Amino acid sequence: MKQDNNIIIMKNINKRYQMGDNEVIALENVSLEVGAGEFVAILGPSGSGKSTLMNIMGCIDTADSGEYFLAGENVADLDDDQLALIRNREVGFIFQQFNLLPRYRAIQNVELPLLLRGMPRDQAREIAEQVMGQVGLKDRADHKPSELSGGQQQRVAIARAMVGNPSILLADEPTGNLDTRSGQEIMGMMKELNSQGHTVILITHDLEVARMAKRVIRMLDGKINMEESYELPAAGSGR
Ligand SMILES: Nc1ncnc2c1ncn2[C@@H]1O[C@H](COP(=O)(O)OP(=O)(O)O)[C@@H](O)[C@H]1O
Ligand SMILES: [Mg+2]
Repeated sequence: MKQDNNIIIMKNINKRYQMGDNEVIALENVSLEVGAGEFVAILGPSGSGKSTLMNIMGCIDTADSGEYFLAGENVADLDDDQLALIRNREVGFIFQQFNLLPRYRAIQNVELPLLLRGMPRDQAREIAEQVMGQVGLKDRADHKPSELSGGQQQRVAIARAMVGNPSILLADEPTGNLDTRSGQEIMGMMKELNSQGHTVILITHDLEVARMAKRVIRMLDGKINMEESYELPAAGSGR
């Protein structure tokens, strides 16, 4: 039951959190579509619902109401095993805090998603080494995360996100903990992944970062506020 060329379709998504007696509206009637192969930024201030939206997109969390189609599947129709499968197949995540496993060496972090899929060790190691090369870290494969710079840790995280060749990369403030130069490197890698055909969804509170995307969706107070498209990136295009 494929729904045309949109890899993400959300219709009237709502999400609330109960905090004691208070109800927090995190998302209110959010509707959006993302075409396969797009590079979209979701821009909004802290607390506007960006991470909640990303968690629902990535099937880490579910909406209270509304419809969500991911790669043509109505997420509400899937059981937990099917959700895990579609998440594993379609989505790679990167986070502001990198979220690498600290006791594992870089290469072990990268091969883990493949091992969890049941891939034989030798084959997983071979693919992980290849992807470590693609992010320019072949010579850092045996380092623990604490022995790497922030920019290098985020590159390991990108390698881990992409090792299974997912169609979508979801990035939640990926440059938030990085210096300007490392941040630009990471943005360059995401652009490169997009040009290879991956859909990239970049979450940020930083307009300059958002401008690197071809399309910007603004959020405020759990709602989509305004949408704008840039024909060409307005900043950071000096590559
Ligand atoms: N687990 C949670 N429990 C209660 N409230 C939450 C939870 N997660 C997020 N919120 C609230 O929902 C709103 C949106 O949060 P979030 O999606 O994290 O925004 P952003 O990523 O844009 O900063 C905020 O008001 C936040 O405090
Ligand atoms: Mg957030």
